[in-house]
Amino acid sequence: MKKLENKKILLIICGGIAAYKSLELIRLFKKMGASVKTVVTKNAKKFVTNLSIASLSQDKVYSDLFNHENEAEMDHISLSRWADLILIAPITANTISKLSHGLADDLASTLVLASNKQVFLAPAMNVRMWEHDSNKKNVNKLVSYGYRLIGPEIGDMACGEYGEGKMTEPQDIINNILNYFENLRKNKKLKALVTAGPTQEKIDPVRFISNKSSGKQGYEIANSLKNNGIETTLISGPTNLKPISGINLINVNTAEEMLNKCLDCLPVDIAIFTAAVADYKVKNIYEQKIKKRENLNLDLEQNVDILKHISNHNSLRPKLVIGFAAETNNLKKNSIEKLSEKNCDWIISNDVSNPEIGFNSESNKVSIFYKNKIEENLPKMSKSAIANEIVNKIISDFN
Ligand code: PMT
Repeated sequence: MKKLENKKILLIICGGIAAYKSLELIRLFKKMGASVKTVVTKNAKKFVTNLSIASLSQDKVYSDLFNHENEAEMDHISLSRWADLILIAPITANTISKLSHGLADDLASTLVLASNKQVFLAPAMNVRMWEHDSNKKNVNKLVSYGYRLIGPEIGDMACGEYGEGKMTEPQDIINNILNYFENLRKNKKLKALVTAGPTQEKIDPVRFISNKSSGKQGYEIANSLKNNGIETTLISGPTNLKPISGINLINVNTAEEMLNKCLDCLPVDIAIFTAAVADYKVKNIYEQKIKKRENLNLDLEQNVDILKHISNHNSLRPKLVIGFAAETNNLKKNSIEKLSEKNCDWIISNDVSNPEIGFNSESNKVSIFYKNKIEENLPKMSKSAIANEIVNKIISDFN
């Protein structure tokens, strides 16, 4: 069987000298059985002709946002919904910048903004342009949105210079895409459970014990698992985040509810405990609102440890149990202790004394403690980029 039989590829071609290689890409995709639709930007038309693209793809070439007299068809929506995957090859610094800023001024940028599919980028540009800080920032932003980079490669460039910026060869781009579909197929058999957000432990009808967790890190991990084809359940304490489509979201308030919902989810292959579970709860919750008084002593008792409970489950322990550690001091020592005390396979630690990372921030910086090694101080990244890093590691652990 042809390896890309029944796969629908939407190829966007931007205006750069490497655009000629996109013709070879179309030829290879078709040879492997894929259906290919193409979108060309205004500048791409200066490098490749519609006639050669249409002849190879055996389909029309899309280029204008308003193609039809009657706009009911809306190409930017229908094309992105049709595709199994969107590949932009070559992508120029200009289009990278447009996408990272959410611009939507032509068919290519509008459909990517409107898309709900995996987007692959194969950049091609001069080495200085590639290395420029502004381009790097834009690329990192796109990676943090979950777009995947293929290349660029190091080599001699059409402009006569040498360095990183050459578009990856068509056959290698195809190999990356084959790997992606193969991983999706394998991952479809995997099930994951993620906990996120704070828990709220009631004091009286209007007050509770909780913490500053926004749930963002856990939601990003769940999203990345889902994007990689893994069936994911997200058990979340109260947050302001929107449900993510394609993820089974279960809302809870207390640690005890979170534990019960986790148990209901078993068996799973992967469990990731990102939630900031309140360590204590009030022994006897007040039935009426507590009246103001001089001193108030609350009688607290320890909450159930969800992670420890699941990681010690005698029959249904997930194959991979990952805990988080929120530390303000002695991060390394405490993380190593938590790894063994909670019987996890990995502990992912963050320094929550730094307000720029950890609780309720956009970015995070983590170290990963495995049973036999430590990956210390991964760079500070957006929470979605951290999530992608973690999920890539999980997938390679399973394959
Ligand atoms: O939600 P965000 O604003 O995005 O912030 C992310 C985060 C800082 C909350 C996250 O990165 C994080 O560090 N989560 C773990 C928070 C925490 O409670 O850490 P801990 O060191 O107290 O607990 C260690 C592990 O045991 C955690 O996996 C925790 O989920 C789990 N635990 C703790 C107590 C308990 N009763 N049950 C548990 O399962």
